[in-house]
Amino acid sequence: MINNATKVIAIANQKGGVGKTKTTDIIARDLASNGYSVLVIDWDPQKTLTAQFGINSNDIKNTPHDSSSVFSDGIFPQPKRVTIHESGDIFLDMLFASSSLMEYAQSGMSAREVKLRNYIKKISKEKIYDYIILDTPGSLGVLFTNAMLSADIVVLPIQTAKAATDATEPFFKELIALEEQFENKLEKIIAFGNMYNKVATHDKEQLEIIQKDIPLYIEKQKKLGNFEGMEFLVSKEIPTRTVIKDATGNGIYLREYIRLYSNTKSNKELLEAYNEIFNLITGVKFNNQKIRGK
Ligand SMILES: Nc1ncnc2c1ncn2[C@@H]1O[C@H](COP(=O)(O)OP(=O)(O)O)[C@@H](O)[C@H]1O
Ligand SMILES: [Mg+2]
Repeated sequence: MINNATKVIAIANQKGGVGKTKTTDIIARDLASNGYSVLVIDWDPQKTLTAQFGINSNDIKNTPHDSSSVFSDGIFPQPKRVTIHESGDIFLDMLFASSSLMEYAQSGMSAREVKLRNYIKKISKEKIYDYIILDTPGSLGVLFTNAMLSADIVVLPIQTAKAATDATEPFFKELIALEEQFENKLEKIIAFGNMYNKVATHDKEQLEIIQKDIPLYIEKQKKLGNFEGMEFLVSKEIPTRTVIKDATGNGIYLREYIRLYSNTKSNKELLEAYNEIFNLITGVKFNNQKIRGK
């Protein structure tokens, strides 16, 4: 452990298909490659991240590697160590998702909104992890609430498309409702435009909304007494790039894939945009030298 306290990062947006899972994959590997100790929790019943790590969710269902075991009285979650890198010397720990996650979320269990937070509180005391990273569902509901009540930092990918920027207001409204109901306080939100196509006028307009109008909206909410003490940051936009699908879709670390197969100028720019997210999370610069491990 590098830091002396565990920070919880939720990659969230109640809209599907905006890039949450890909962002989770890249950020988690970036933190691990720079020496942070990382636990990734697949908290989405769609199990996309679990599949990206090559795991068949039926094999882990109702085992201690199943993220839904945070709901279970009988099983204490036990993260599984996975390598994230071809050379095999960089690791992170994971809890995978199975179909049980949705079953528990829909059950009538009491206090089910705070089960994840309770687990995270316990594990944080052990001072194992610098970061716990949550991939979250593309819908509001009990699982979303669990994630938000656990998070210190929310990373919010917003696709540079009108339907996506329109969906941010309900997202913030939900956070405000959770602030009122549970006195939930976030430390910071790091938003960024995702899948940006710089030659499309539509994308440019939407990026402007993300970089100007949304921060103004948050300022307005703060004046109304919401989001007290919360920092709202906008990171550099992430362009739309097939290399993201090619790398992460095949379970390969994006930076390794680019270095080995596609070391172009535009891909270097892509990585610089991820560097900024890393920097806003950790407060330090991403160190490329560390990627290859020892
Ligand atoms: N920056 C990007 N460039 C190109 N494709 C992307 C980018 N980010 C995400 N995608 C693709 O968009 C789709 C949805 O991404 P995903 O991370 O699964 O979204 P979510 O988890 O929000 O539903 C995936 O096919 C993914 O490969
Ligand atoms: Mg997803």
